[in-house]
Amino acid sequence: MEEEKVQWTSHLSFILATVGSAVGLGNIWRFPYIMGKNGGAVFLLTYLFIIAFICIIPLCCELFIGKKYKTDTIQAIKSVNSKFTWVGWLCIITVILIPCFYFVVGGWILNYIWIFLTNNLPANFSGYFNSYSSQIFMPVFLTILFLIMTAAFPFRGVNKGIEKANNIMMPLFTLMLIGLAIYALFQPGAKDGLMFMFKPDFTQFNKTMILTALGQALFTLSIGMGTILTYGSYMKDKTNIIKSGYTLIFCDTLIALIAGIMIFPIVFTFNVEPSAGAALAFISLPEMFSKLPFSSIYGLIFFTLLFFASITSGISMMETGILSIIKNFNITRKRATIILTVIIGLISIPSTLSFGILKDFTLFNKTIFDLLDYSTSNILLPFNTLLICLLSGWCIKSLWKEILGENIFGYIFNILLKFVVPIILILVLVTGL
Ligand code: TRP
Repeated sequence: MEEEKVQWTSHLSFILATVGSAVGLGNIWRFPYIMGKNGGAVFLLTYLFIIAFICIIPLCCELFIGKKYKTDTIQAIKSVNSKFTWVGWLCIITVILIPCFYFVVGGWILNYIWIFLTNNLPANFSGYFNSYSSQIFMPVFLTILFLIMTAAFPFRGVNKGIEKANNIMMPLFTLMLIGLAIYALFQPGAKDGLMFMFKPDFTQFNKTMILTALGQALFTLSIGMGTILTYGSYMKDKTNIIKSGYTLIFCDTLIALIAGIMIFPIVFTFNVEPSAGAALAFISLPEMFSKLPFSSIYGLIFFTLLFFASITSGISMMETGILSIIKNFNITRKRATIILTVIIGLISIPSTLSFGILKDFTLFNKTIFDLLDYSTSNILLPFNTLLICLLSGWCIKSLWKEILGENIFGYIFNILLKFVVPIILILVLVTGL
């Protein structure tokens, strides 16, 4: 096939692409808040421990399987054990469902870039956001626009599209993020903001906090849906898996921390209740930006940065699905991209409308948007990760030896992979339900 020989042109491109996939809305609007609410520095230490000793395991497994079989998620898992091909399909279903709510947010971001660009700011962002997101035409149009913009990169190919996008957008993203964080540190609320995020609170250390940390870690690293596996399949043979895994973890965590330093000094300068998610990014922050000097530039940079973070994640989700369509249905990359774009587009429309005319259409008490978010993040993601670990641990006998060699680190990795991580993931699943 035409796809057979694709490789990242450099190690840096590979790292930028995986970091681009991992760094997304989860790092910016979720991590800093979760950290502040769950014990600050105590949470950070727990999170670092979990990410360094638990999440590194499935991360390395996905990289290993990708690198070894050099094909898409479904075929790679089929090669591991053909009885479990369905696990690959499950990953692909997950990676198709995630964009259906993630790209709705992408559409909102495009709208906010536009209003800050034209300096057409509403007097009250809360009223504005609620009335905007409940409209029909504009939100749907912008979700689809975001989808098409994202699809354009994998459409052009791995090197010409995906690699170029990440090589340009990730450095720009980082510069903007650092710039805004430095600016925030000079605001009057800087001290309180940093206190909120970092002040250790030992009373928060409990089971729920550990599970929260683990759930966030899996989501932010894009584990459990074949994305890391797919990007790993373009890896060069000499690339070291453990080193790449830790580099990714380091960059992802660092960016999440800088995002907090960018957000909370502003929040405390204006004395508002800290929050997370859509309400933070689309209501409270813009409200505050509009009161800062150079408000429209500040807002514009913030939403452009959010745009880069979400589109580079979106590209990796789409590429995972596209490579699977190419390999399993034997069609060209361009066709596969169009097919996937249409599928995601069709599901995204009702998902976008679930803030407006479909607000009362609920299943299990959740709107379509919430249902997509909940079922993927809380159920499919840990479930797929569990299966990938079990398959890697019990079906690829030499995995730990090939990753770390026959030494103490290899033995520890093997025990974590076969017993500890699966048990922890089962706990996450049970409590998540
Ligand atoms: N890691 C992304 C974020 O932090 C979200 C995400 C979850 C993701 N699963 C993914 C991105 C799979 C790409 C592929 O926002």
